[in-house]
Parts: sequence; C-alpha cells; structure tokens
Amino acid sequence: MAFSSRFLDEVRNRVGLAEVVGRRVRLIKKGREYHGLCPFHNEKTPSFTVNEDKGFYHCFGCGEHGSVFDFVMKTNNMSFPESVEQLANEVGLEIPVETPEERQRQMRAKNLFEVVEAATAHYEKLLYMPEGKDALNYLFNRGVNEESIKQFRIGFSANSSSLKRALVREGISDQLMTEAGLLIQPDDPSRTPYDRFRGRVMFPITDRRGRVIAFGGRILGNGEPKYLNSPETPLFHKGDSLYALSQAVEAARDTKTILVTEGYTDVIALHQAGFKHAVAPLGTALTENQIQILWKVVPEPILCFDGDNAGQKAALRAAERAMPLLKPGKSLRFIALPDGEDPDSLIKTKGIKAIEETLGEAVHLFEVIWRFNTFGCRLETPEDRAGLENRLKEAAAIIKDKTVQRYYLNSFKSRLWDEFGKNRSMNNVSGGRGNWRNQQTSFVQMTEKSGQGAHIDTIWIQQAILIATLINHPLLFDRIGERLGSLEFKAPDLDKLRQEVLKTLALSPRLEKQVLRDHLEVTGFAVLLNGLLSRQVINHAKFARPDENIDVVQKGWEQTFRLYRRNQLLEEIQTVEKELSENPTTETFELLKALKQTAMQKEDAEIYLSNFSSAKSA
Ligand code: UTP
Ligand code: MN
Repeated sequence: MAFSSRFLDEVRNRVGLAEVVGRRVRLIKKGREYHGLCPFHNEKTPSFTVNEDKGFYHCFGCGEHGSVFDFVMKTNNMSFPESVEQLANEVGLEIPVETPEERQRQMRAKNLFEVVEAATAHYEKLLYMPEGKDALNYLFNRGVNEESIKQFRIGFSANSSSLKRALVREGISDQLMTEAGLLIQPDDPSRTPYDRFRGRVMFPITDRRGRVIAFGGRILGNGEPKYLNSPETPLFHKGDSLYALSQAVEAARDTKTILVTEGYTDVIALHQAGFKHAVAPLGTALTENQIQILWKVVPEPILCFDGDNAGQKAALRAAERAMPLLKPGKSLRFIALPDGEDPDSLIKTKGIKAIEETLGEAVHLFEVIWRFNTFGCRLETPEDRAGLENRLKEAAAIIKDKTVQRYYLNSFKSRLWDEFGKNRSMNNVSGGRGNWRNQQTSFVQMTEKSGQGAHIDTIWIQQAILIATLINHPLLFDRIGERLGSLEFKAPDLDKLRQEVLKTLALSPRLEKQVLRDHLEVTGFAVLLNGLLSRQVINHAKFARPDENIDVVQKGWEQTFRLYRRNQLLEEIQTVEKELSENPTTETFELLKALKQTAMQKEDAEIYLSNFSSAKSA
C-alpha cells in the first residue's frame, strides 16, 4: 500500500524521533542532537546520533542511517507499511485510503516545489525592479530592513500576468502553475488562467525544511482582502504549516520557547528585533496539528493574543483546543498584549523592552482555564461552590491523557479550597454567629463589632473598599488618587492592584470603567477583582456601587479613608504601647503621646461618632 507523502509527513510530525529511538537506546542530549550507543553494532563509545530537526538518525561507526520509519523497520523487523501502521496507531492517526488521483498528485509534488521556487525567485527579483518600487518603499516605511527582506525572501507580484509569462519562458506549464496555486483557472475552461497574486507584497511560506510551499500576498495600501493566501495545494495545507517555522526552530530550541503571533508582519518585526523564535499560523486559529508541531520543538509554546475582547476569546479557543491534546510535560502559555497592539506595533511604539516585559508575564494554560471558569462567579453558597467545582471538573475531563487530567483535577481542587478558605474567613467576619442576615451588616457596623481576631480582616476590607470604589468610578481618580497613592496595603496582591490601578489611571485619567476592568483582568487580577467587586466588598460599601452618584461615592470613600487611617493609627498605638511596657524610653513615650493626640483630633473623632450613630439607627 502506498502512503501519501502528506500522511507520512503527518506521522513524522507527530511522533518524536528521539522518543521512538529512546525506547531502545539511552540517549543523551547534546545541543540539538542526541547521542547514544548504536543499536546496530557493538560499541563502547557512542557514535550514534539522532537529529530531531532533520528527522533522521545516523551512526558514525557503522553508517546506519534513516528515518523514524527505518528505525522501526530495522529494530522490529517490520516492513515499511507495518512500521507506518504501527507509528500511525501510536499517535492516533488513521491510515487514509488513497485514490489514484491523489497518487498522481503526489507524483507531481516534486515538480511543484520547483514551480513555487521559480515563482519565489521571480517575485524577489521584481521587488527590486521599477515595478516593485512602491512595494519596496512600503516595506522600508514599515521598518522592514534589507536583511529581513532577504531572509524571508519577500517579493512583489506585478499587476499584469507577469509571473505566468516569466514561468512559461522557463518551460513551466499553466497547469502546474495552477496546481501550485499561482494561477487562477476561470470557471469557463476555454479561458486561459491568470496570475492569482497581482500588485501584492509577497511573503513566501516555507515547510519545515525551508522549501517554499505557498505565499501570502499583502495588498499595497487599503483594499480587500488585505492578505491573499495560496489555496490548499498538494504542497500546502494551511492548518499544517506555520509561517517562519524553519527560520525559528534553531532559536526556539536554544531559548526553549517559541512565540506564536498572529501575522506575517509580527513575525518579521520580532525576528528583526532579535526574537528569532517567532512563528505564526496562517490567518486561522491554531489547529491541533500546529500545536503538535510546536510541541515537537519546545514543551511550552507561548501564544500571543491581543488584549481586546476578540483576542481574549481567541485565547480561550486556543486553550480549549489544546486541552484534549495535553501530554505530560507539554503545555502552552499565554500572553495578552496591550489593547489593540500586535507585536509589530508594540515594538514600534514601545520598543523591545515592552516585548520582553510581556514575555515575562506569560500565563500558564492551567491558570488561563482557571481564570476563565472562575471569573465573575459567586461563591456564596454551597451550591455556588459545587457549581464551580463541576465546571472545573468538566474542563479537566476534556484532557485525554489520564495523568495530566488527574493533576489538573488535583490542582483545581486545592485551588478551590484556597479560594473557599479565603471566603470562609470573610464570612466569619461579616457573618458573626452564622446568621445569614448578618451578611447584610453594613461595613460601619462591622468595624464596631469586630473583635481582635477580625481586626486584620477589617483592615483588609477597608483597603478593598478604597480600591474597589476607584475601579467602579475611575473618574474619582482626580479627587482621591493622591491619597490612595500615599497608602501602602499589607496584602501584596491588593497592593499590586492598587499600584496598577493608579498607574493606569495616571496614564489615561479618562479611562472608561469597562476598559479599566478589562485591562486589570488581563494583567492578572481577574480572580482578585472578582472577589472585590462582587459581594464581599460592595455589600459593605453600597456607596461604591457603579450606579451611585459621584459625589455620594466620594463622600463614602472619604469616610472609609478616614476610618482606615484611624484603624491604622490605633494599630500603631497598640504596638507602641506594647513597646513602651517592654522597654520604656522617653522617645517611645513621646511617640505614643503624639500618636494619641492625632487620634483625638476633632475631625476624626466626629466622624467616628457620626458613623457610630448612623450604624445604630440603620
Ligand atoms: P492582521 O490583520 O492582524 O494583519 O491579520 P497584520 O499582520 O497586522 O498585517 P498588517 O500589519 O496590517 O500588514 C493577521 C494575520 O491574519 C491573516 C494573515 O496571516 C495576517 O498576517 N490574514 C489577515 C489573512 O489571511 N487575510 C486577511 O485578509 C487578513
Ligand atoms: Mn500589524
């Protein structure tokens, strides 16, 4: 039985050569190669090498050499079809039944490589001809330098059928060019085919070995479609290819990361800026096959997405697509770029540093799944909690690998208990002796009632209110930003949030509430925000609600601020008092006196009293 080269490639892409060989030979990694004792002859020092990139093994001792199929054939004493079947089975690929037409197409594939190569050379040449002047300028204006043009073999397709004419002169038939996706055959078969790509900047797409298999063509200026891609051809299967993979593999192996961005220009800009481990899918969401291919290069590829809503949805889709495929040691990480930016624009506006920073903030797949499932959900009742637990169980159930699945379940569980634990302690504070009505207790009452044990939580709630109020009412920044800036919260996550909110609003003081929230969510505060803006805090501070009048909001904030300051002061007094009793010095005594004086200041006392009475009458 004959297998299509596409199918064989797919098997090769999915099985790890080193993994297969590693079952028989103890392999040691040396740079990009593996070394070991040759299984085909007797030796004491290793001369057997495995090269995963090139897809073959070679023994410098006995000269044995071959692909993963050869290895299985030789070591298991199998025929070629048997080895293919075995490996295909292992990676869960079904063996396709091949039609005679497909077989014929395969035969032509070799020729097609030559056709596409001729087209690449033609487009490259045209870029530097008078016809290509605008395209070349366009590239220069976008900051693409000559080196990148050469490295990525960027070219230009002229407006007439110039490719067809040039390739016919080289003896290439219309039919082959059509099959290579370079010409379009009109529906009416009596009409002659014409150039598919006209007046576009041409980005050649290569296979893993660096051979050109297709093109993406960008229009100059505005127009539809912005990018025109080659159709599916015997050489090119969009879902199995990644732009610039052959160029990125080396750097990816060196840095142990591969960066998956959205577009051609992102990849080029990143490579040019020194991030030579960047690739991109070809205008579609990442496919399963592409994920498998990436995993053969590094264990945890990083996917970049735009920080806007569409980008975040795309991230979720990619996460969900990867879940069933997870294997021990293989996962994904995610990056959310600032709203509306792609890596190309980010490098231009904020420079290489900005990219490095976002890379440092990559979030693990587990965390992404957690955040998407927990975001915005209440955890008040056992039913709420059970509901969340079930959702997380369902999310983990999608994972096919049982070991990974078990770890996901365990991690979700312990994370849940952490969250529930936090919430329980919150309930103890507000719920007093377990009366559910006490949930409605106002914040002010609580501060009066809470005893020693709950004191710290009171401060936490006050801090939470101070920040939540501003998140719900960013316009308040002008009036309170400075005072909030002078504080420092004890809980590190809360303080980070405080800093991030202040920083963001300082840069754009007129920021919409929703935009601010979106920003905070993607910068890692989703879970914390969920807690702050749901019942925990807002129930204690009705003035902080989003629909409240800004003056009312400000008044409430001021009150909370003073109470908080006062609590801090009382805490300080306690500490100093204790210190004084242990080690009485004049200094400490003076300090205590000063603190007490501040505490007695009229303004504070008044507010303290007025709160007390309003709480009583409530
Ligand atoms: P973008 O529209 O984000 O393109 O599409 P870009 O890379 O930022 O392009 P510039 O900066 O405007 O030149 C991202 C990717 O989606 C695919 C391409 O692969 C593109 O790189 N795409 C986009 C298409 O295939 N067709 C289109 O019409 C648009
Ligand atoms: Mn762009």
